Amino acid sequence: MYVVRPAAAAAAAFLGLALSVLGGTAASAAPGAAGSPRSPGAPGAPAPASAVGQQRFLGPVVYAHRGASAYAPENTVESIDRAMWMGFKWVENDVQRTRDGELVVIHDDSLARTTDVEQVFPDRKPWLVKDFTAAEIARLDAGSWFDPQFAGARVPTLREYMDRVQDNQQRLLLEIKKPELYPGIEEQTLKLLGELGWLDAKHVSQRLVVQSFSADSVRIVHRLRPDLVTAFLGTPTVAELPRYAEFTDRINPWHTTITADWVKAVHGLRGAHGKAMEVDTWIVDDAATARKVREMGVDGIITNMPDVVREAVGGF
Ligand code: G3P
Ligand code: CA
Repeated sequence: MYVVRPAAAAAAAFLGLALSVLGGTAASAAPGAAGSPRSPGAPGAPAPASAVGQQRFLGPVVYAHRGASAYAPENTVESIDRAMWMGFKWVENDVQRTRDGELVVIHDDSLARTTDVEQVFPDRKPWLVKDFTAAEIARLDAGSWFDPQFAGARVPTLREYMDRVQDNQQRLLLEIKKPELYPGIEEQTLKLLGELGWLDAKHVSQRLVVQSFSADSVRIVHRLRPDLVTAFLGTPTVAELPRYAEFTDRINPWHTTITADWVKAVHGLRGAHGKAMEVDTWIVDDAATARKVREMGVDGIITNMPDVVREAVGGF
């Protein structure tokens, strides 16, 4: 399967554009060995210009980073509710694991910045997520640090978070954060997603992308679930791109690290599912930068201020 960008697909159909680039299944992806000649259509093989996504016509996909995190405490259910109310379907999060093996949604590996853990557990410095049980973390206030009006917000478990994404009919760019701290987190995350119904054909094709700064982690996810769309967070050199294309569909870089030529190089390769690779860049919170990266041809913009980006470049 390949994640179809639904609004774009509908608009492209309206425009009469060919959508064959969006079809495809994992079965059509034939990973080639690194350095070996790549057959046409295989990962790492050149992608024709016609295979590049339709963002050039329709504007980039806008992802609410850690939810609408400029307006509500990051990685809480309140932050994805806020994104929904603002009209954004795609949200991004970060997944880590507690001492007793529960997956939770939080960005830092310490609880200190985004909760009141220092007051509740003053003797537990440096307050690492992996050193606390899920029950302990559930006691923490994850909203007051951001704004007193969010007092009582919690660090959600991934299960709680996914239930809210589902209720909100949103889509998720799920980041496996610091996987080196959490052996087996990829398999555990996929198991939970499967239990919650997020690995059926519809979710996989339209509503879920898994990403990580760890190439190893992305590779593991691709091996375990070859049908899932994945993204690597970083900016590999153009020469390195074909290796990444073997296990991922997208390269998601920090916006300061890219040029139009680099984006073009990514688009010029077929990814793990045989389609042109895509680029979703982060963190873009101002109109000028949003316009700049759109000019570079990125497919998506990951932002704390999705309204600002939408206002600047359209997108959806
Ligand atoms: O989705 C991209 C972005 O989340 C990567 O950076 O540190 O916010 O997880 P970070
Ligand atoms: Ca993230």
